[in-house]
Amino acid sequence: MKPDYVRIFDTSLRDGEQAPGASMTSAEKLEVARALMRLGVDVIEAGFPAASPDDLAAVQTIAAEVGQVPVEGRPQTEPPIICGLARCTRPDIEAAWLGVKGAKRPRIHTFLATSDVHMKHKLRMSRDEVVAKAVEMVAFARSLCADIEFSPEDAGRSDPEFLYRVLEAVIKAGATTLNIPDTVGYTMPDEFGALIAGIIKNTPGAQDVIISVHCHDDLGLAVANSLAGLRAGARQAEVTINGIGERAGNASLEEVVMAIRTRSAKIGLTTGIDATQLCRVSKLVSRSTSYPVPPNKAIVGANAFAHESGIHQDGMIKNAQTYEIMTPADVGATQTTLVLGKHSGRAAFSKRLTELGYPLEGEALVKAFNEFKKLADRKKAVHDADLVTLASDERTTVPELWALETLQVVCGTTSLPTATVRLRDPDGKSHSYAAIGTGPVDAAYKAIDAIVQVPVELLEFGINSVTEGIDALGEVSVRVRHEDQRSSHGHGADTDIVVASAKAYIASLNHVLSRQSAGRGQHPHENPVASPAHNR
Ligand code: KIV
Ligand code: ZN
Repeated sequence: MKPDYVRIFDTSLRDGEQAPGASMTSAEKLEVARALMRLGVDVIEAGFPAASPDDLAAVQTIAAEVGQVPVEGRPQTEPPIICGLARCTRPDIEAAWLGVKGAKRPRIHTFLATSDVHMKHKLRMSRDEVVAKAVEMVAFARSLCADIEFSPEDAGRSDPEFLYRVLEAVIKAGATTLNIPDTVGYTMPDEFGALIAGIIKNTPGAQDVIISVHCHDDLGLAVANSLAGLRAGARQAEVTINGIGERAGNASLEEVVMAIRTRSAKIGLTTGIDATQLCRVSKLVSRSTSYPVPPNKAIVGANAFAHESGIHQDGMIKNAQTYEIMTPADVGATQTTLVLGKHSGRAAFSKRLTELGYPLEGEALVKAFNEFKKLADRKKAVHDADLVTLASDERTTVPELWALETLQVVCGTTSLPTATVRLRDPDGKSHSYAAIGTGPVDAAYKAIDAIVQVPVELLEFGINSVTEGIDALGEVSVRVRHEDQRSSHGHGADTDIVVASAKAYIASLNHVLSRQSAGRGQHPHENPVASPAHNR
């Protein structure tokens, strides 16, 4: 590995998934892991296997598939490292090993808090006890796996001298990567850079291991702190797509990567990321977690390359470099118009989907193709973004227990908004209901509620246009909370936004029902006992 190479460690599936309500199904996690592999991340933190049997199974599946063979389209030749998180306990470490050991390149990541406030109030352990526990557990993990990462949790608020001591001890016990988390997003870039520099200088053995940064965004400084740490000598950055994560989130992968790339002359570092996939992966993660990407989000926001003011537009026409430090194409933000129309064949459609990273087969391909034909009839131009939306709908991993058959609404300035809905139940039987609401979507949701009879509260409703133009596909995301207090999300896309809204709502109810029928226990993120203490 070249000395200027920064390993990108993606923790969207672990820290990212800890964002409230962002939990993904195992199949959604696998889909995201596949996309991360093609993006070229070096390490995928696939989950926290001790949290629940579901989390363990998801990590195992990712290890068995994504952690095996390099696939076409991956920038690197070797598969990504698959990592599982574990507290410093034997059962956690055993579970993490069970999760990742099927991967070609497995890693166990274990952590223990080192700040005085955490040791005193949370762990109730002395410094000596923390050192002893960290050493014991790193040695145990190393007896199972050759690649061990250790994190002194809340390092940003830990006494540096104590950190040097803990880190020296865990290196001797077998740690190969030392990850330095600013767990509560407290530090300033100069402080965090100095912390990393101090660790490299003062920790015996630090030269023989990889130093990593893991910064939270409570003060909006996660990316700045990560870059400061890298410039001070760290060579791994722990990041998430769209910056999702605990509270205010983690450093955003796309921002760290594009800063390194756009300012390479100043920063002097490189990564193995194929930046042209950033927008696509961002959309996938947003969709899988139902966390919308703000329009002004750097790199992947819908307006990240939009120039509104006349002065800016004039400059852009004269020379794009006047207002553009990177191009939309650099990050995959261009709208490619598919040269397929309503007369195109299924083979060409299927080929384009595969090129976009959304291969479909069998019935899913037939269904997506039929939707594409309908769309091509209604829309002037079908863009790649439309195709990705159609394909994602077909690749949805939540079983379609209830399905929308027909929907008719009456609304406007002079009538009571009324919706008549016909749904197909899991046994194939049709059910109809008509309801009045405050608007057409509310009426449709009331009719759906009356038929499906799953008590949920609507927490969030968001609507997005997939592409530009009045004929664009509308994509609706909803998040609902079931009476068991767990939240579920759903998506629906259609050129008719009331239909898209109904589809999204039904998808979220299917999510609730499939979870119930799978008999899943309490989610780890809602269980303070089973989860890393700092995360609750
Ligand atoms: O923020 C944090 O401290 C963590 C650790 C588990 C690395 O997520
Ligand atoms: Zn974290």
